[in-house]
Amino acid sequence: MTRKDKIKVLFVCLGNICRSPSAQAVFTQKVQHAGLEDCIEIDSAGTAAYHIGKAPDARAMAAAKARGYSMEQLRARQVKVDDFHHFDYILAMDFANQGDLQELQPNDSRAHLSLMLDGVATDLNEVPDPYYGGDAGFETVLDLLEQASDQLIETIQRDHL
Ligand code: 4NP
Repeated sequence: MTRKDKIKVLFVCLGNICRSPSAQAVFTQKVQHAGLEDCIEIDSAGTAAYHIGKAPDARAMAAAKARGYSMEQLRARQVKVDDFHHFDYILAMDFANQGDLQELQPNDSRAHLSLMLDGVATDLNEVPDPYYGGDAGFETVLDLLEQASDQLIETIQRDHL
């Protein structure tokens, strides 16, 4: 499948070291498996500046690696106003991230801003922050991101490709 402009997707959490780089890794692999890597551009960012330039959290990388996802090459960055001009979809992991993004969103934003779990078949509204918890939290994050990524690919295929 080809189209002139790539559909551009940005995943956003607080630190850009746990949830959003995991989302980037999961979604990237699923996009590749669907043969859509020439059609979709993928990135992630954090609302906070704490971890700029850092590699993802070691626990997140280990959990991802055990499922065959690669995150080693990713480095944290902070979301910026221009992201709203560049990306088509900006997906926030939780309500706090979404609120911070709404405050940053310029009037001429092209991006569709939503929650990662909007419309996903789960009781949760948010991808829970695993940073201060145990290893099980990182498995929950990956379970949710896999479900949400499948749905996002379906949505993009239905609406754009
Ligand atoms: P993330 O997790 O937003 O999923 O990357 C966190 C990472 C760092 C912190 C909080 C959450 N922190 O407070 O440093």
